[in-house]
Amino acid sequence: MAEKISKLTVLFATETGNSEDLAQRTAEKAEELGFQTETINVSDYDAKDLASVECLVFVGSTWGEGEPPESAWDFHDALVDGDAIDCSKLKFAVLGLGDHDYEQFCEFGKKVDQALEKHGGKRIYARKDCGADYEDEFEAWLEGLFKVIEPA
Ligand SMILES: Cc1cc2nc3c(=O)[nH]c(=O)nc-3n(C[C@H](O)[C@H](O)[C@H](O)COP(=O)(O)O)c2cc1C
Repeated sequence: MAEKISKLTVLFATETGNSEDLAQRTAEKAEELGFQTETINVSDYDAKDLASVECLVFVGSTWGEGEPPESAWDFHDALVDGDAIDCSKLKFAVLGLGDHDYEQFCEFGKKVDQALEKHGGKRIYARKDCGADYEDEFEAWLEGLFKVIEPA
């Protein structure tokens, strides 16, 4: 049975805009379906605020050699390395963007997915790691996401 959700918080971490685009498309689809949404760049987000989030969709790319986008380093440090983050009321789903040509494929998305669980969050949908040609993978992921959640 699908989880009933009032508000979806869509966070994105991007270097060149792909993750932002997919985050916005996720939020647009969610609104069409009747969810309230907010879409925020992690560069403007304090990871401690996850304590009051009902349902998080995180969309983020990997750069360098398995690193976060530059604008996401503070979020990375707080969430992945920090221990004072409370995700005990959080439901979450992660979409990682990357490229199979890199050894550390979608590493940042993997780290965020693990960290959210470590801090007590409940994964409601399996993480998807997308390669360079992500359009079909994204569409399939999005369709599946809205099978496991529905507007409250
Ligand atoms: C210089 C450079 C380094 C990258 N490093 C990685 C990497 O380590 N792992 C990975 O999976 N993808 C890597 N990528 C691929 C990006 O994550 C991919 O292009 C992604 O779609 C970018 O999304 P964004 O526009 O949201 O930042 C790299 C791309 C570039 C240009």
